Amino acid sequence: MSDAPPAAPAALRPRLDATAYQALTDAARRDPKRYWRKEMGRLDWIQTPNEIFDDSKGWFADGKLNASINCLDRHLKQRGEQTAVIWQAEDRDTNLHLTYRELHARVCRMANVLRHQGVKRGDRVAIHLPSVVEGIVGMLACARLGAMHVVLFGGFSAEAIADRLADSGAVLAITANVGRRGAKRIPFKVTMDAALALRPDALAVRTVLVVEVTDDPVPMQAGRDLLLAPLLADASTECAPESMNANDPLFLLYTSGSTGKPKGIVHGTGGYLLWAAYTQEMVFDHQNGDIFWCTADIGWITGHSYVVYGPLANGGTVLLFEGMPSHPGPGRWWEVIQQHKVTTFYTSPTAIRALMREGDDVPARYDLSTLRVLGTVGEPISHDAWAWFDDVIGQKRCALVDTWWQTETGGIMISPIPGAVKEKPASATLPLPGVRPLLLDEKGYPIEGAGEGILCLDGSWPGHALTIWQDDALFKTTYLAPYPGHYFTGDGARRDEDGYYWITGRVDDVINVSGHRIGSAEIEDALAADHAIAESAAIGIPHDLKGQSIVVYLVPRHENADGLAERAMKIIAAKVGRYAVPEIIHIVPDLPKTRSGKNVRRLMRKIACGEREGFGDLSTLADPGVVKVLIEIVNRGD
Ligand code: PRX
Repeated sequence: MSDAPPAAPAALRPRLDATAYQALTDAARRDPKRYWRKEMGRLDWIQTPNEIFDDSKGWFADGKLNASINCLDRHLKQRGEQTAVIWQAEDRDTNLHLTYRELHARVCRMANVLRHQGVKRGDRVAIHLPSVVEGIVGMLACARLGAMHVVLFGGFSAEAIADRLADSGAVLAITANVGRRGAKRIPFKVTMDAALALRPDALAVRTVLVVEVTDDPVPMQAGRDLLLAPLLADASTECAPESMNANDPLFLLYTSGSTGKPKGIVHGTGGYLLWAAYTQEMVFDHQNGDIFWCTADIGWITGHSYVVYGPLANGGTVLLFEGMPSHPGPGRWWEVIQQHKVTTFYTSPTAIRALMREGDDVPARYDLSTLRVLGTVGEPISHDAWAWFDDVIGQKRCALVDTWWQTETGGIMISPIPGAVKEKPASATLPLPGVRPLLLDEKGYPIEGAGEGILCLDGSWPGHALTIWQDDALFKTTYLAPYPGHYFTGDGARRDEDGYYWITGRVDDVINVSGHRIGSAEIEDALAADHAIAESAAIGIPHDLKGQSIVVYLVPRHENADGLAERAMKIIAAKVGRYAVPEIIHIVPDLPKTRSGKNVRRLMRKIACGEREGFGDLSTLADPGVVKVLIEIVNRGD
């Protein structure tokens, strides 16, 4: 133990102030091409772009680069011995510090293994892993070869994985024997095997590489499955990177929308990487020596942009934690912050609400004085959760950034900037320089000044997704067609008299459970395949801990509906994943529909929330009597 007095708490040393923020915002608006020509200097280009932006060609069309060079090679000279990744294992005593040089070597080894297995530029590689270093290494190895990674969230069911493998045409999958969740073991490989067995003819996966996270035995199929460690050990630590066009895809990432089919959002190499680096530095006040911890799973966009690409492109140090917030005790996350001297902590409102319930005395046991910037993402944050995060965790001396963005935007769009944009509790505040939000009314007319409406974005920005994998028409109809000339976000927002944005939640049929997007149609389509189910409707209602929870109204095909609700839960867990299982299923004789047969979700939501009046004009319903029946059923709790 050292007798040295404790270091003074970390102080904010923001680079930008309000005047600088305004100047950047004005510059980006006045002459976007000039602004981004300057900003693109954040990246190392193999061929510097001359073309900055063009509606048909996109961003930096004639530029060439490689994302792994930007995240690794270019740092070797200055910071080869600096830690790039700290991995904290589930058990307290195991952690790993990888320097940039070591990470570079690991990525090259992995890229050589992939190449040896036949992975080429333009191929898709699925990654289905718990929070282990091989996830980051696998992503950067794909980037090095010009292959697109398709990271699949650990919570997906075998069917959900099979759908995504089929849609992406992945030729190789990287998975683990198991994942550790507290004392539990999650059978990653078994789930992958089940996915591959579901559609042997539709899937292109030739090879499955297996990371052994523990000593647990793992079933292996000869001729297809290989343990990764021995292959890595034999591989060279040098691997020549591919020169990629700026708009060659870097990855696909599946997300949910209002259609049942999962959408493979495609992000390009140059624009996406620039956006990840630009936003990570600006929003998190990135500085040398920072320890940046983003708690997101790499299976979501937050993990892509703020566990991997943003901080590593900026030469930062990221922390990756294998475990859970509450294992072995409720203070585990705070212990990790203390142990690794985390300066920047980015998490979700759901996690904050859960940790808040454990009481203030839990974080009080830990030294959190290294923290400088706190961030939240994924769902609206309530005032009490914001205040608790600010006060109890940030001890009122940290910047707190509520960041709004989406898979499709590539990185943060609306957020406070420490020192430059004054926070208002629970508001995402103002757009970053280069982002132009606008609010539209239901008819599509812009709302000026203060008001509430549909959140759209004007113009493009470098992080804008390229398309939906193999469905450019769906990309256009989903995002560009609803309000011609603007990008439609699917969210509603309020703008106050200071121009600050307050996100109110989705205006489409997407449910947000604990920050996870789930399309109503994904659940309804899964149930539609069951012969005993005539029809169903899934809706989201407010939930104290999860933000929203799912309620399903289910119309049975036969009179005897015994056990149907339980069966429906199982179907959803099997086809989508456990994270999408509804909180409540109501068995009902019919759904409220318009005369043209459209489900009236607004009514179903109100009834599920316990509202009993104020339903408005019911005369447009095909059968207004159904409302009364639904209320009775919900009241009885059936
Ligand atoms: O509804 C918004 C909500 O999450 C959606 C995007 O989900 P996803 O693509 O999975 O990306 C999550 C991480 C970026 C948005 O359409 N959302 C995201 N951030 C916020 C938010 N809602 C309110 N406040 C936020 N800060």
